[in-house]
Amino acid sequence: MKVVPDSYIVDEKGDAYIGGVSLKHLAEKHHTPLYILDEQTIRRNCRLYTEALSRYYPNSKVLYAGKANLNVGLINLMNHEGLGLDVVSGGELYTALKSQMEPRSIYFHGNNKSVEELRLALQNGVSIVVDNYQELQNLVALGKEGLRSKILIRLKPEIEAHTHDYIKTGQIDSKFGFDKEDLIRVTSIIKANDSLKYIGLHAHIGSQIFDIEPFLDLVDILFEHVGHIQKEVGLETAVLNLGGGIGIQYMTEDDPPEIPVYIEAVTTKIKRVCALKGMTEPQLIFEPGRSVIGNAGVTIYTVGTIKEIHDIKTYVFVDGGMADNPRPMMYQAEYTYALVRDTGKEKKVYAIAGKFCESGDILTHSVELPEVEVGDHIVVFATGAYNYAMASNYNRAVKPAMVLVNKGDVKILVRREKWEDVIACDQEITF
Ligand SMILES: Cc1ncc(COP(=O)(O)O)c(C=O)c1O
Repeated sequence: MKVVPDSYIVDEKGDAYIGGVSLKHLAEKHHTPLYILDEQTIRRNCRLYTEALSRYYPNSKVLYAGKANLNVGLINLMNHEGLGLDVVSGGELYTALKSQMEPRSIYFHGNNKSVEELRLALQNGVSIVVDNYQELQNLVALGKEGLRSKILIRLKPEIEAHTHDYIKTGQIDSKFGFDKEDLIRVTSIIKANDSLKYIGLHAHIGSQIFDIEPFLDLVDILFEHVGHIQKEVGLETAVLNLGGGIGIQYMTEDDPPEIPVYIEAVTTKIKRVCALKGMTEPQLIFEPGRSVIGNAGVTIYTVGTIKEIHDIKTYVFVDGGMADNPRPMMYQAEYTYALVRDTGKEKKVYAIAGKFCESGDILTHSVELPEVEVGDHIVVFATGAYNYAMASNYNRAVKPAMVLVNKGDVKILVRREKWEDVIACDQEITF
C-alpha cells in the first residue's frame, strides 16, 4: 500500500492526475477545498481483504467501517465489492438504509444508542453490537414490541494498540464494551429472552496499528471466552468480529503490514486454536475503515496568501484547514504534500496554515515544496479516512464536495455545501 492513490501520475509537464483526470481541472470545476477519491484504489483495497479471505478463510465477511468516510454512493461502491457495513450512529444508519446495502449486511455499534435508533435498526433487520446493560434492557423492551435482535457482544479486549505500541492490561478504562467478568451474565440474559439471539463476540483494539502481534493476542483472548460461554451458558459463538485497525502510510517512512499478510496470520492462528481446542471454526468478521479508504483519497486546496515571517518561517495560507481536516490539530497527524503542478522551481520550506480563526489551525509546520505562488493548488495525500467524516462547519465554513474519479470519469459523491446550507437550520427569530 502506498501513500498516493494507485492511479496517481505526474505527466512530463509536472501536472498531476488521478483516475485519468487532471487535478487542476478538478480544482477549477469543483472548487477547493475538494476531496477526491480514486475508485481503482478503493476497489483494490477491498479486494486485498476479500481475496485473501476467500483464500485463507472463506467463512468470513468484511464490513467497511463507515465512520472512516460515509455517504450513499460510497456505500453502494462497497456493496458492489461485496463488503458489508458497520455504522455507529443513527445518522450513519439512516445513510446506510438509503443505500443499496442489504440491512442484513449492516451492523450497528455505539456506546449510547437511543431507543429510537435501536428501533429503526431492528425494524430493518440490522444486527446490533451491544455495548452495555442498559442497551440490553432496551432490546428486551423492544422485544415486547415484537422486534427481534441479532446480537454481538462488544468485549473490552484488554489490549490497546496504536501504531507501534500496544499494551495488555487487566483493566483498560475504555468507554466501549463489557468487561470480561460480565460475559456470562450478559449471555445468560440473552439466552433467557426469546427475542434476543446471540451470534457472537466483537472486539476492536485500536487504530493505525502497524504490528500484527496484538491481533494474534486478541484471538487467544476471544477464544478463552468462546469456550467459557459454551461451558457455562451452553451458547455457541457462531461469529467472531475482530474489529478494524490496520494502519496505512501517511508518510513514506510509515511501515504498516500488507493486508494479505495480516489476514493470513490471523486466520492461521484461528484455525490452529480451533484445531487444538476441538472447536468449530466460527465465521470471522473484519471491520477495516482507514485501510480501505485512507490512501484512496486526497484533498486539494488553493493558495490564497503567502506570509513571510522574516528569518523564521514562511506561511502558505490555503482555503481550507481544520474544518475539512481536523486530524493535524487533534492528533498532530502528519501528511504528505505536493504541488498539483510541479513547476520544478527550487524547493523551499513552508508551514501550511488553514483559514480558520484559531492559531492552531496549521496543517503542517514544515514541508519542502517547489517555490509556491498565490493561486497554486496543493494536494494532500491519504485524506480518504477521518477527514470528510470529521469535517465541521466551524466559522460557518461550507463543507467541500467529494468526487470519485475513475478512467477519466468524475462522479460527485457529495456536492459542495452552499452558504444557504449553512443557515438552513437557523430559525428567523427577530427582536
Ligand atoms: C468498532 C470499530 N470498528 C472498526 C473501526 C475502524 O478502524 P480503522 O479505521 O482503524 O480500520 C473502528 C475505528 O475506530 C471502530 O471503533
